[in-house]
Amino acid sequence: MSALTSKSYHPGVLPIKFEPGRIMLVDQRKLPHELCYFDATEHDDMVFAIRDMVVRGAPSIGVAAAFGLALDAGRLSSLNLNKLDFLKAFAQANAELNETRPTAVNLRWALQRISVVVAQAADHDYPGEIANFAYKEAEKIFQEHLDANLAISEFGAQLVNEGARISTHCNAGGLAACGYGTALGVIRAAHFSGKNISVYVDETRPRNQGSKLTMWELHQDGIPSTLICDSMSGHLMMQGKIDLVITGADRIARNGDSANKIGTYNLAVLAHHHKIPFYIAAPLSTFDSELIDGKNIPIEERSSLEVVTIDGVATTVPGARAYNPGFDVTPAELIAGIITEAGVLRPDYKNSIARALKIEN
Ligand code: MRU
Repeated sequence: MSALTSKSYHPGVLPIKFEPGRIMLVDQRKLPHELCYFDATEHDDMVFAIRDMVVRGAPSIGVAAAFGLALDAGRLSSLNLNKLDFLKAFAQANAELNETRPTAVNLRWALQRISVVVAQAADHDYPGEIANFAYKEAEKIFQEHLDANLAISEFGAQLVNEGARISTHCNAGGLAACGYGTALGVIRAAHFSGKNISVYVDETRPRNQGSKLTMWELHQDGIPSTLICDSMSGHLMMQGKIDLVITGADRIARNGDSANKIGTYNLAVLAHHHKIPFYIAAPLSTFDSELIDGKNIPIEERSSLEVVTIDGVATTVPGARAYNPGFDVTPAELIAGIITEAGVLRPDYKNSIARALKIEN
């Protein structure tokens, strides 16, 4: 399906490894200083890992949660519960995982897929097989993301001109997207096809996913990259130093309104003002077919500690009040195209998204 080969694919950035009963997550809190794994062998480990952002980025959160719920299915099916009690305990585990991060819709989507498979297995009285079915579905979701990442990267690379200077925000690389990357996959594919591109990376306060993770991934691949503070993009655009912007997304409504890491909206408004194309790259699992527009996308509010400190060191006066919305919503009219595994979706998004999702408009 894809012309990208395993040669150009960088397996080192895959954030998840698994074996039945054990899920190993690259501990993204420790990068770029240390590449190490966090072992999730219990339900609470995975709840912690997603909430505390050991694993992060909407698609990776979905894949990790799918394996986490498969882990739960295995644990519960070994307890010899009757079907009703099994399903009740399973639903509870599902709900706890679902509540860990509210904005990334991939989480709900992946948990639903595992739940359907488990409910079917329970209905057919295959208690011993339930965990196998669940793990198989989680592996399928993982593989679908690997494939989607590659397709997105190829479609997106066609939008990138020779010598393009690209701006990106947060981390939509292999760590976040579970594969070749979405926004960063497009950048990788353009780089490896010899387009001589370069990247401006927003540091992405408060958690600095840009400086810590995106810079790390770009350096692994030797892609020319320059770190900037989030407030510098307007100045660079005014100087004519940015040709296009590509970011990922955490939830996309049916009209194309797209939630992504806080600060993305600023970038989109600036790009619009400077007539620079602003693209979103995301798999179809990031679309929320239940939402007509972005108004009802839940925005996660995280601890104010993330704002008043950097890596545990205070950056302001003691007792300072701080506000920390984790995401913002970029209105569809600011988005030149949404790059998916089904191709590049263009306005009118209501139509193009409905076609891609194979749902009624
Ligand atoms: O809070 P995070 O780090 O989980 O943020 C989500 C993201 O990684 C980004 O918003 C990203 O750009 C989209 S997910 C590939």
